[in-house]
Amino acid sequence: MYRGFDKSENTEKIKGKISRRKLLERTLSIIKPDGVEKKVVGEIISRFEKNGLNVVAMKRIKLSKADAEGFYAVHKERPFFGSLTDFMSRGPIVVMVLEGEGAIAKNREIMGATNPEEAAEGTIRKDFATNIEENTVHGSDAPETAAFEIGYFFNALEING
Ligand code: CMP
Repeated sequence: MYRGFDKSENTEKIKGKISRRKLLERTLSIIKPDGVEKKVVGEIISRFEKNGLNVVAMKRIKLSKADAEGFYAVHKERPFFGSLTDFMSRGPIVVMVLEGEGAIAKNREIMGATNPEEAAEGTIRKDFATNIEENTVHGSDAPETAAFEIGYFFNALEING
């Protein structure tokens, strides 16, 4: 029997779609020079995909020292800034935009703590990082930093969700 158009039911469906879309987030991921040198690029991407993060943009590039300094500008007063930017510009890296529900936090969970000695079992840094500097991967830490970091490497045409 025709029930007629139930406006409230439709409103609930739309609300559901909006809240699901809200949870979809994007974050920047970098496989650092040590990760590329160790040939664990495929393994790392596989961990993201298995955990519900989709690669919606990706490229393999080599940063100049100035590129690395621009990317890590927030750390310019830190004692490790010179060494960090030397490391990040010593060889190719793989940069990606990851998309998924709660992508920023999920990526950080998969990566593990900055210092591999403190990283949980099964995390990327626990399994592959050399030390606190050569720690294999980078991930944005907040929505504002994600927006800056994604824009540092990708334009809108290169991101396809
Ligand atoms: P990342 O998550 O890319 O953010 C900043 C980077 O600086 C960090 O990973 C490390 O590569 C590096 N870093 C952070 N703390 C230290 C430290 N105490 N000594 C050397 N490098 C560090």
